[in-house]
Amino acid sequence: MTSRELRQKYLDFFKEKEHAIIPSAPVVPENDPTVLFTTAGMHPLVPFLMGEKHPKGKRLANVQKCVRTVDIDEVGDNRHLTFFEMLGNWSLGDYFKREAIEWSFEFITSEKWLGLDPRRLYVTVFEGDEDAVRDEESIRIWQEQFAKVGIKAEAAGEDRIVNYEKRIIPLGKDDNWWGPAGKTGPCGPCTEMFYDVSPELGKVNDTFGSLVKNFRLMEIWNDVFMEFNKKADATFEKMKQQNVDTGMGLERTLVVLTGKDNVFDTEFFQPIIRRIEELSAKNYSEDESKISMRIVSDHLKAATFMIADGVLPSNVERGYVLRRLIRRAVRQGKILGIEGNFTSKIAEVVISEYKEVYPELGRETEKIIEALNQEEMKFRQTLEKGLKKIKEIIAESRSAEKISGEKAFHLFSTYGFPLELTKEIAREHGIAVDEESYHEHFKKHQELSRTVSAGMFKGGLADAGESAARLHTATHLLLAALRKVLGDHVIQKGSNITGERLRLDFSHEKKMTPEEIQKTEGLVNEAISKDIPVKCEEMTLEDAQKMGAMGVFGEKYGDKVKVYSIFDFSSEICGGPHADATGALGNFRIKKEEASSAGVRRIKAVLE
Ligand code: ALA
Repeated sequence: MTSRELRQKYLDFFKEKEHAIIPSAPVVPENDPTVLFTTAGMHPLVPFLMGEKHPKGKRLANVQKCVRTVDIDEVGDNRHLTFFEMLGNWSLGDYFKREAIEWSFEFITSEKWLGLDPRRLYVTVFEGDEDAVRDEESIRIWQEQFAKVGIKAEAAGEDRIVNYEKRIIPLGKDDNWWGPAGKTGPCGPCTEMFYDVSPELGKVNDTFGSLVKNFRLMEIWNDVFMEFNKKADATFEKMKQQNVDTGMGLERTLVVLTGKDNVFDTEFFQPIIRRIEELSAKNYSEDESKISMRIVSDHLKAATFMIADGVLPSNVERGYVLRRLIRRAVRQGKILGIEGNFTSKIAEVVISEYKEVYPELGRETEKIIEALNQEEMKFRQTLEKGLKKIKEIIAESRSAEKISGEKAFHLFSTYGFPLELTKEIAREHGIAVDEESYHEHFKKHQELSRTVSAGMFKGGLADAGESAARLHTATHLLLAALRKVLGDHVIQKGSNITGERLRLDFSHEKKMTPEEIQKTEGLVNEAISKDIPVKCEEMTLEDAQKMGAMGVFGEKYGDKVKVYSIFDFSSEICGGPHADATGALGNFRIKKEEASSAGVRRIKAVLE
């Protein structure tokens, strides 16, 4: 089976089960300050899991491109990836455990679909704790599925020994509770499906933990029963509706379907790895090159998708993650002995492999190549100097047994060495890094709060949603005001909200004059002072267009759309959420007006 067939089969299966197929959202979440990247198909659906009506109905399915960096140090083993595709199906308050499990089993094992061997399938379920009971219901439903094909399936005991009879494994929250994606939001117990990738090793008979650690069992699919909302005080409340959120790893599933035992041996990576072999004149089959080639291919694939969705290398937030990926790849390329700039050459392979499925890669090719070339060139210059410097530092630091935070920070600020890189090189020389003190230095430079690990929102994530809603409403007011001040040619080209500020890209040729900026601010503040209610109506796209509502994202709309109106000031097709009335916004101030790209200006603004 090919990746193309697998994607299609999955969507066809859920179409048969009356699911609407929705497109993949970008890897950069729109208007969601609680996460840096789309790490699962459920992210763009959070408002709908929380109870808002989705225009396409209650049953949805898609293939979502995801970026996950929590496992970045794991990349290089047989299954962890920074970029991957997730096949997902959702019930928004519609079906629940029974259908979700039955369909998962049918899709995996039926000859008509994947036709995998049910005897090689093992599943985990939630064992229960003070927040939610042991998932006896899922255990029963799984037993019925296995019974259909003549397999007796018992639940494993506390020893977690898994074997041919005991293939249902109850586990705690660490393993069998999914979400929330940020600190708060929808979550719940889950049941995960694992496949035995090495049956030639004989009968399975070991603890669940070792079977996974030794790569005997490969997780392929997770069904989450998303019926709770985690609140800011870390307690769980039952949600209005019972949802199902599932995620099946495309790359991993193709591994088991093609009889391989690792993701890098699949068609998703082989063309990329071949190119790295050419460039490095090394062989992937040689152990000393394998891990480096895996890391280069994974990281540059992720970087290619991130740039296509609008991220550029920088020292903060998403840009920092991107920079880190590119720099790690360059360093691994160096280890492989690749001479000269190579990252854009790898990106070219990624683009040609994926552009049919993800046309944005084709559209953004120039930007991707340019961004990679620039970043690589910059990094190579400093890398040379930095490598000399870090060797000196390591020699000086031997007696202290660790590199001081100050020195590690110096490597970052002067030579562009992210902490992870310094740690990696230090580790290779058997020396540690004083991370705590590094972070203190970093904080002093007022950047830490905006990097990956620290989350993105100073005020704490609790009120992030509310703050985002206000900024979102302010974005609508701003767009309407710009059209009044500059003219009707102004349309939205992009929007991003971090919880602290809004950013709006819009079509306009010239730099705005100070008077225009002042006038725009004035109009927005006037609308705020009138405390106009924000009205939301559902209607057909046609009716929305008739009433003159502005739209942005074209193809993304379903049959019914939501139109948010602020009296006669603004009406836009939009998924929300918004403030209830403009009075909640406070004072609006434009902090910056600058060029974004040809014919597009960018405004950053805050509510004070
Ligand atoms: N959101 C769930 C996951 O990512 C399905 O595993």
